[in-house]
Amino acid sequence: MRILGIESSCDETGVAVYDDKTGLVSHALHTQIAMHAEYGGVVPELASRDHIKRVVPLVRKALLDADMELKDLCAIAYTAGPGLIGALLSGAMEAGALAYGLGIPCVPVHHMEGHLLAPMLEENKPEFPFVALLISGGHTLLIKVSKPGVYELLGQSVDDAAGEAFDKTAKLLGIPYPGGPGLEKLAANGTEGVFNFPRPMIKNPNCDFSFAGLKTAVLNATLDHKDDLEEVKADIAKGFTIAMADTLEIKCRRALKQTGLKRLVVAGGVSANTDIRNRLKDLMSSLKGEAFFARREFCTDNGAMIAQVGMLRFKAGQIGDSSIKVFPRRPLSELKPL
Ligand code: KG4
Ligand code: ZN
Repeated sequence: MRILGIESSCDETGVAVYDDKTGLVSHALHTQIAMHAEYGGVVPELASRDHIKRVVPLVRKALLDADMELKDLCAIAYTAGPGLIGALLSGAMEAGALAYGLGIPCVPVHHMEGHLLAPMLEENKPEFPFVALLISGGHTLLIKVSKPGVYELLGQSVDDAAGEAFDKTAKLLGIPYPGGPGLEKLAANGTEGVFNFPRPMIKNPNCDFSFAGLKTAVLNATLDHKDDLEEVKADIAKGFTIAMADTLEIKCRRALKQTGLKRLVVAGGVSANTDIRNRLKDLMSSLKGEAFFARREFCTDNGAMIAQVGMLRFKAGQIGDSSIKVFPRRPLSELKPL
């Protein structure tokens, strides 16, 4: 059986075909980065319009690459949320129309479940149970995953998400949107220890995060160095990344201790960052456990992760009704077990 997955929650249109026996068959992606860069961030209305324009050609491409036709599909999965409502609707309407026309079911997928299980697209898949660290542009979550679909929240950011902190810091350093990848490049030329930024909430004995103070500390550093900012930018980027990596490591260590688990799954856009990947890999080797990541292109938004979860939910009989439902927010803990 083969399912088509459509992702359109923010600024990437992703489409993929997933086979329940052989796994991912094909995937196609269009990123709107160049379009939004001019405005310094995502413009929701432009995002929705662009998804509408891109989705049909991407569906055609994914099917062509999979050497199959629409009639060979068993269902259409789509991102139902969380995300920008207009953007979500663009993908959901396409999924609904295709499913209706083909007389097959539509499967709504939670975007964060897509991210969370994305490392299962890789050859080295994590076994259950595990602790998941989800670090994206809108979320920073630590979750205990006992089995697919059973998500227990251990901690989350009380203010900015990790990706948001990367993006805001990048903006202060003059790096164009989206800041994360640019900040990573800049930090590669920086020296560790020149700037020591705060590691917020590490003394707090829970698994929650806070990144607003870190961003303010970077702002103060840029103001202190307004005359020689160009010379210290890379060191600031490095200092920020190390503070972020330290905080994530400390909270992951705590979540692993609390749950007694030795497997850590790291997912979401920020998990593409090499410094952060290395740090969490080292943490898991020191604990004689293992860290699991998706390949970099599947850390950020993509159709493959939606098609994969769509197949799991389809096989569990969790299909949508004939109405299209999208949601801007919904906790993962509200999902049905698989
Ligand atoms: O998961 P994602 O693609 O979208 C959401 O669901 O939010 O995450 C996007 C976030 C952005 O904040 C982006 O700057 C960040 O992930 N990001 C990175 C890197 N690549 C993407 N942050 C740090 N280093 C990267 N290499
Ligand atoms: Zn995402």
